[in-house]
Amino acid sequence: MIRLMNAADVPAVAEIEKLVQSHPWSKKQFEDAVNAYQSTVIEENGEVLGFCILQPVLDEANLLLMAIHPSQQGKGLGYELLEASIAMLKNNPVQIFLEVRESNTAAVKLYEKSDFHQIDLRKNYYPKPDGKREHAIIMVKACSDDFSKLFN
Ligand SMILES: CC(C)(COP(=O)(O)OP(=O)(O)OC[C@H]1O[C@@H](n2cnc3c(N)ncnc32)[C@H](O)[C@@H]1OP(=O)(O)O)[C@@H](O)C(=O)NCCC(=O)NCCS
Repeated sequence: MIRLMNAADVPAVAEIEKLVQSHPWSKKQFEDAVNAYQSTVIEENGEVLGFCILQPVLDEANLLLMAIHPSQQGKGLGYELLEASIAMLKNNPVQIFLEVRESNTAAVKLYEKSDFHQIDLRKNYYPKPDGKREHAIIMVKACSDDFSKLFN
């Protein structure tokens, strides 16, 4: 089941985040995200397996963060969560933007499957655990029919 995140989900969500990110969001950031953004979770049998945080801005949206618990990855849950979360956006965005680490092949492929396209590269944007930095790929998904013609 995919539903809006609430405050009671934050410990489980922060735990997943810690398992998958080298620079994880804090519990406080997730608590704030419950109210400030459209934050969703995917759960099975009452257990939170992943989350997605989208920031609606006027007639656009930014995908800020998403993750699936490592033990549940590769089963289609990330794609299901992403598609459902985008469909739940109330501002009916024309386009959705995101930034992703260049080395994060699984995420880049997921976003491409959801019709995001690379539009730019932000050089040396993300810090790495070894002190070096890596590029961010900027991707956009066109949500309106008129706009999507630009990419086809
Ligand atoms: C990125 C992430 C959310 C994908 O979730 P997932 O549930 O494992 O993905 P799905 O099983 O729904 O796969 C959807 C598509 O993503 C791509 N994909 C997923 N895992 C992949 C992998 N290990 N290698 C290559 N492509 C992969 C595939 O295109 C796949 O479609 P397909 O099965 O038809 O080939 C998950 O790997 C994750 O949580 N990663 C750590 C956190 C993160 O990087 N978040 C994104 C940046 S904020």
